Amino acid sequence: MQLNGNETRLDPLIRHNPYPFYEALREQRPVYYDTGLDLYLVSRYENSQTILRDPETYSLEHGYQDRYANGHVEEFAEIMNRDGGGFIRDLAIDPPAHSRLRRLTEQAFTAHRVKSLELRIAEIAAGLIEPLAARGYADGMLDIAAPLTAKIICEQMGFDFDEVGAEKIALWTKAVLAQIGRMQTREEMLENARIMCELQQYVIARIREREAEPREDLVSDLIHARVAGDDAPALTFAEQISTVRGFLIAGNDTTAAAIANIILVLATDPALAASLYAQLDDERIMARFVEEILRLRPPVHGLYRTAMRDVELGGVSIPAMSQICILFAAANYDEAKFPQGAVLELERSNLGASLTFGAGIHRCVGASLARMEIRVAAREIIRRLDDLRLAVPVEQLTYMPTLATHTLERLPLTFKRRTA
Ligand code: HEM
Repeated sequence: MQLNGNETRLDPLIRHNPYPFYEALREQRPVYYDTGLDLYLVSRYENSQTILRDPETYSLEHGYQDRYANGHVEEFAEIMNRDGGGFIRDLAIDPPAHSRLRRLTEQAFTAHRVKSLELRIAEIAAGLIEPLAARGYADGMLDIAAPLTAKIICEQMGFDFDEVGAEKIALWTKAVLAQIGRMQTREEMLENARIMCELQQYVIARIREREAEPREDLVSDLIHARVAGDDAPALTFAEQISTVRGFLIAGNDTTAAAIANIILVLATDPALAASLYAQLDDERIMARFVEEILRLRPPVHGLYRTAMRDVELGGVSIPAMSQICILFAAANYDEAKFPQGAVLELERSNLGASLTFGAGIHRCVGASLARMEIRVAAREIIRRLDDLRLAVPVEQLTYMPTLATHTLERLPLTFKRRTA
């Protein structure tokens, strides 16, 4: 693909399959001003790291908040204040406020806590897949990936999954992501605001319950988390709402997208699926497989920063207060970092170096939980389903309409129950 400077990431063709565009960007214009989005797209690994490692020059807070609600922020705020218990933005903030919040939220993801979930995750995955195995067809996103992650995050938070349901969680997720997705129209904003009011009211009710009576769950942990030696040792009420909402959304759609991507790879590469089945109990291979798919098909394609001063990056001058989008998905294929970047290579020496979970101070706080969920889901799918195939041509698969994530909407499959 030859770039002429007028291409935009918003183009429906590019949105459907952005990888040829990413490759052209990396090679021809690694720091590219996208006129459709009015921001700079950064596609090389090294330039992305420069941004991620310098939060003072490249502000995440401005990057997320400046265009929150895609131009409708005042009206959106009014609705949230009136019906949703308050206009509370995402936790996407800069240091020093970030450092305090990060220490508080990290308390919810200790290695011990994540490890202790493995059996329960396997149980939930098996419970979902087994009834489908007999049927022979399913939607990999709607019947497996989405309910699996929604159920796990609900259990973690202490929400009643049967009461909430996967559909509502998907709706909540979509509404929150639309506020940073940059493709939302005013009509969509009104509908999304209504849905977000419902989500916040639900979260507020759960927080109130835990205040009265703590339980063994993440919401209780967050309410009672403390950092020593700080002027504000606990989360404020607004921070609690935002963190709970953030975990629910950040931990749900992304992980579901990753599991759906794994299923897609297995369904389109039967030889790989067979070879993994033969090595199913080799934890090292399964972990490497998951890591490579996360690099090749990262759920989060691009996230934002704002340049806080005039900067020079990749030979391009970026004026102060310009918006930048770090294209993690493009950087993950950078040949300078990952030789033969488009090839799945389980023995890569730098497997963990992808930008799928970001880097620097904002690196994903839930990465260990996500990796565990994806690995266990992959194992249970391979163990239980044989002859996994796509039920539609791959070109007919569609993705959710947002710039930030690349999430399959549906994934129709056929398969057989594995007998041996
Ligand atoms: C495959 C699944 C996941 C992917 C691909 C992913 C990706 C990311 C990325 C790229 C960032 C960096 C944001 C930036 O630099 O602007 C991030 C941050 C974050 N993620 Fe995840 N995430 C996943 C799962 C989760 C889970 C399971 C949770 C929690 C339950 C979670 C919670 C968060 C939070 C709270 C942050 C903000 C961290 C900070 O600013 O310090 N994520 N994630």
